[in-house]
Amino acid sequence: MQTKAKHRGRNQKVIREKVILITGANGEVGHGLIRRLYDLPSAPPVVVLDINELDRTVSGYVREAITGDILDDGLLNRLAEQYEIDAIYHLAALLSTSAERQPERAHRVNVEGTMNLLRLASAEAGQRGEPVKFIFPSSIAVYGMADIAEKHAAPPISEDQHLNPITMYGCNKLYCEHVGRYYSQHYRQLATDGRGAGVDFRALRFPGLISALTTPSGGTSDYAPEIIHAAAAGEAHSAFVRPDTTIPFMMMPDAVDALLALADVRRERLTRTVYNVSAFSLSAEQIAERVRVHFPSARIDYAPDAGRQRVVDSWPARLDDRRARQDWGWSPVYDAERAFSDYLIPMITARYQSGSA
Ligand code: SER
Repeated sequence: MQTKAKHRGRNQKVIREKVILITGANGEVGHGLIRRLYDLPSAPPVVVLDINELDRTVSGYVREAITGDILDDGLLNRLAEQYEIDAIYHLAALLSTSAERQPERAHRVNVEGTMNLLRLASAEAGQRGEPVKFIFPSSIAVYGMADIAEKHAAPPISEDQHLNPITMYGCNKLYCEHVGRYYSQHYRQLATDGRGAGVDFRALRFPGLISALTTPSGGTSDYAPEIIHAAAAGEAHSAFVRPDTTIPFMMMPDAVDALLALADVRRERLTRTVYNVSAFSLSAEQIAERVRVHFPSARIDYAPDAGRQRVVDSWPARLDDRRARQDWGWSPVYDAERAFSDYLIPMITARYQSGSA
């Protein structure tokens, strides 16, 4: 589906269609978000930008799917000429394991890419005289616990504690949270001088996300969905972490709901620009135990990878998300019980039985 900017004749203003832009839309969060936005009657159409061609399972739900790079200024300029961008969900990023393998490329994509999108949002806000919402998924990777003893002894970690990331991805996300806040404040200030309407930057720090419909790649929390998907597919699996490895998790539908809820809340209700969100914490072995209840013949063992283990060991075992609960009513649908019984097991089983995996 494609639309072009409508030209009203020589010397007349170009009418641009109002859209929501999703970058990195081909990823796991993008898949869920595209479908949900399509079903929201009040949401403008969605334009997506991804380095890879958009998956056919979701391409029917978008106004236009652009295959391209967020580092391509010319592409972003053309996008802005064609569309009035009402909100940006900036999902494009290299996740933590990929970023450790290519740190300089990760910095370019995760930091310079985010700067490009913030610049686009700022210019758009100035042009249309209204703020542009900028929704940014950040991560548990911004935290860095000193060691395992501290990790397990610590109470749930709140937003301003332990901000010592050990990965390039964590550093990138933490920095971008700050730059987003900077854009938000700096340009809001300018707006009072009549020079722009500002970037309305809002960020969520996600725990490990698990989808029944897609499998992740390039992350370090991937060991959890890998255990579950392998069992459903009837494949033997060696997890790349120790059995006691514990981090917080959330189901993908809750993650998409959190993004939409944060985007929807009135600005005055927000007391901060960055919010933790979480659902439950389990160890790798506790996940395997739940998986074995439903797939008794699952063959799961452990072959820890030292580098990836070090990364998850630096992430908190539990997150304190009280601020999101207080400010904008965050509450996950899926606790550990419901995650398996109502979402993962039925949907994954259907997926592998139908052969659509
Ligand atoms: N899921 C991400 C990763 O593993 C962390 O936010 O990189």
